Amino acid sequence: MRRLRSPRFPSACIAVIAILGACFGTVSSVRAGHALPDTIAQRVAACTGCHGREGRAAPDGFHPRIAGKPAAYLHQQLLHFRDGRRRHVAMAHLLAHLDDGYLAEIAEHFATLEIPYPAPRPPTTTATTLARGRGLVIDGDATREIPPCAACHGERFTGVAPAVPGLLGLPRDYLNAQLGGWKNGLRKATSPDCMATIASRLSPQDIEAVSAWLSSQPVPAGGKAATTFSAKPPMACGSIASVTHRVSP
Ligand code: HEC
Ligand code: HEC
Repeated sequence: MRRLRSPRFPSACIAVIAILGACFGTVSSVRAGHALPDTIAQRVAACTGCHGREGRAAPDGFHPRIAGKPAAYLHQQLLHFRDGRRRHVAMAHLLAHLDDGYLAEIAEHFATLEIPYPAPRPPTTTATTLARGRGLVIDGDATREIPPCAACHGERFTGVAPAVPGLLGLPRDYLNAQLGGWKNGLRKATSPDCMATIASRLSPQDIEAVSAWLSSQPVPAGGKAATTFSAKPPMACGSIASVTHRVSP
C-alpha cells in the first residue's frame, strides 16, 4: 500500500485539508500560513470528530468504530458512501472529491490502529430473544437458507481480512440499522450482495434477536480478524470476490 505524501499528491492533500478544515475550523490556520502537521492522523480529524478518538466509536451507539476493521472492508464502505450505495449525507459530502487511492490510504490508516474494545453493555432483552439470536448466529436456519454467520465472519466473529468485518464490538442499534438497511434496500454492497439476501430471509424479530445477542458478547482478546476462511463461504459475495480478484495476479 503506497503511503500518501503531499509532494506526490499535492492537490489531494490540499483538498482534504480544506474539507477537514471546513468542518473543524482548521482552515483559518492554513490561511494564516501556519503549517498543519502533515500526517494522515491530522488529515482524518474530521472523521474522528464523529467516530470517536482514533475511530474507536462514539459513546452514542450510532457512530460506529472504524479502528482495526479490515482494510478492504473499510475501503469498500468509503466507496459505498461516496457513490451512494450506503447513505449518510455528511459522509458523502466529505468523501465526494476524494479518489479511490486516497480512500484506500484512509482505510489503511484506520485498519492498522489497535485499540482495546470496551466491555459490552448488558443486554436489555429477554432470555428467549437472546437464545433465538444466539441460535441464528451460530447455527443459522437451514429451513430458511440462513447460513451460520461464522461461515463468513470468522469462527470468533472477529471478521476475515481483508473484506469481511467482525460482528462483535458493535452496538445493538447500529447492528439493527445495518441489517434493517439491507432488508429495506438502503444499504447495498458489491453485487452479488450476499448480506442483502441473508437480511431478506431474517424477520424483524430475527434481526432484533441477532443484534441483541451479538452486542452482548465480549470481543475476544485483541479482536483481530482471521486471515483465512475455515471453509469456502456458503454464498457468493461481491465484496469478497472483488478483493480476491484485485489481489490475485
Ligand atoms: C457527521 C458525522 C460523520 C463524519 C464526519 C464521518 N462519519 Fe463515518 N459514519 C457516520 C455514521 C453515522 C455512520 C453509520 C452510518 C450507517 O448507519 O450506515 C458512519 C459509517 C462509517 C463507516 C462504516 C463502518 C462500518 O463498520 O461499516 C466507515 C468506514 C466510516 N464511517 C468512515 C469514515 C471516515 C474515514 C470519515 C472521514 C473521512 C468519516 N467516516 C466521517 C458518521 C460520520
Ligand atoms: C456468505 C458470507 C456471509 C454470511 C454467511 C454472513 N455475512 Fe454478514 N457480511 C458479509 C460480507 C461480505 C460483509 C461486508 C459487506 C460490505 O462490503 O458492505 C458483511 C457485513 C455484515 C455486517 C455489517 C457490519 C458493519 O460493520 O457494518 C453485518 C451487521 C453482518 N454482515 C451481519 C451478519 C449476520 C448477523 C450474519 C448471520 C445471520 C451474517 N452477516 C452472515 C458476508 C456474510
